[in-house]
Amino acid sequence: MSLISTSSPSSKTLPILRGQHLHLWFDHEKTKALDDMNYAISENEFVAITGPSGCGKSSLLNLLGTLEIPTGGTLFFRNQNYHDIQDLALFRRQHIGFIFQSFHLIPTLSALDNILVPTLGNSQQKKDVTERALDLLNMLNLGGRSNHFPSQLSGGERQRVAIARALINQPDILLADEPTGSLDSINAQQVLDILCEIKQQQSLTIVMVTHDPAVALRADREVRMRDGKALDMTQVLT
Ligand SMILES: Nc1ncnc2c1ncn2[C@@H]1O[C@H](COP(=O)(O)OP(=O)(O)O)[C@@H](O)[C@H]1O
Ligand SMILES: [Mg+2]
Repeated sequence: MSLISTSSPSSKTLPILRGQHLHLWFDHEKTKALDDMNYAISENEFVAITGPSGCGKSSLLNLLGTLEIPTGGTLFFRNQNYHDIQDLALFRRQHIGFIFQSFHLIPTLSALDNILVPTLGNSQQKKDVTERALDLLNMLNLGGRSNHFPSQLSGGERQRVAIARALINQPDILLADEPTGSLDSINAQQVLDILCEIKQQQSLTIVMVTHDPAVALRADREVRMRDGKALDMTQVLT
């Protein structure tokens, strides 16, 4: 008798992201950025990752985004093992959007051209992606800013351009590392409102690292980390 079930769970019940016994070590094992970290994140969930500086929050995000390879353990995207992904750059382009605290916009490109950067390897027509970028700019209340360079934009506007860039390829997952960390409270609130609205409209899963308890309160769930792992296992398994 086969022990393997023939009926696979539907994509709605399967977590979009799962990690089992993840380790990430640096400096010949002297630094254990992640130390047996486990998690499961549902489709369309907004998870806030919190914890003291150095506890491994960015390391976890980098693993989720395939920017780092774990020293040990297994990551899954739906039922695909990260280890089996042949083209990580393509995987990132198709499934993942990133937002960072310091925006990481290219200073010599306009807002519109910054948003188009992740589409450069796509086969889509330039006209179609440009139309989508302009729609995103309008949605993010940046309609009049498409030709502005980053130096001509406020912090809040720059982060909204970065959000548009993260969304241009219609990702399944948005990974955000302290996205409101450089913003005043009004702009931070605005960025959060936008992300929550987009999560609903586009069925996006959001994993956000934050220091700000007010930001964590907006999430569906908070996972508190310390010393490279989640403090409470019940927090990490949905
Ligand atoms: N590339 C790296 N090389 C060496 N050590 C690193 C590297 N990245 C992170 N670390 C270390 O791993 C630990 C976790 O870092 P990080 O994930 O950035 O923490 P957090 O984002 O919670 O502040 C820290 O001790 C940090 O110094
Ligand atoms: Mg960090």
